[in-house]
Amino acid sequence: MARLLQLDASAAVEGSTSRSLTAAFAAAFAAVPGNAVVRRDLHAEPVPHLPHPQLHWAAPLRSGSAPAAAGEALQEALIAELLAADVLVVGYPLYNYSLPSSLKAWIDHVHVPGRTAPSAGSPLAGRPAVLVATRGGDYGPGAPNEGRDLATPVLELVLGEEMGMDVSVVACQWTLAGNGPDREERVRRGGLERAAALAAVRELGSRLR
Ligand SMILES: Cc1cc2nc3c(=O)[nH]c(=O)nc-3n(C[C@H](O)[C@H](O)[C@H](O)COP(=O)(O)O)c2cc1C
Repeated sequence: MARLLQLDASAAVEGSTSRSLTAAFAAAFAAVPGNAVVRRDLHAEPVPHLPHPQLHWAAPLRSGSAPAAAGEALQEALIAELLAADVLVVGYPLYNYSLPSSLKAWIDHVHVPGRTAPSAGSPLAGRPAVLVATRGGDYGPGAPNEGRDLATPVLELVLGEEMGMDVSVVACQWTLAGNGPDREERVRRGGLERAAALAAVRELGSRLR
């Protein structure tokens, strides 16, 4: 039996591409007998900003004033939920070239040097983490926005390099067609992107554990 933690951060409750892709991943995962899915909607039930800077560190590494017990308890719950998962899938749109703030707040709680990091000795080392990134525009090779997705590199760095998880990225671009003269071509490319992303999440969801 394997357990999936499914995180969603889109502010769109309906019509969200990232939510539809994480749902397809979770459905493929749950189709394997014995597998279970735990879901956390970071938009519907937001994690607050990290309430105290010392929460960034594992307890033995802290100095100065102590964090309040309530903040510590929430952090413990979020870390325990992550540690209980064999596989992580995270759906997030690009917002202003960056992470949705709801997802950033979750990252600030679970990335804890001395506890979940560094990667050498991290309890999460080697566990699969699938990043499902949606973008309104084109960030591919040669596009004016190439290299301007500043969300995915942060997640690769923190979940992958720092926490030691085995990160895969499924990106889906061109979700916004706009109204310009090239609208038809944008819609066509968006459709191709969605079909490829759907195939990728289904394959990963049925295979990872
Ligand atoms: C507040 C906000 C900021 C956005 N910023 C960007 C951006 O910087 N680049 C981009 O390509 N799309 C941007 N978009 C568009 C979303 O990334 C795009 O619509 C995406 O598909 C939304 O994901 P979802 O369908 O899962 O909700 C933005 C959308 C919102 C609501």
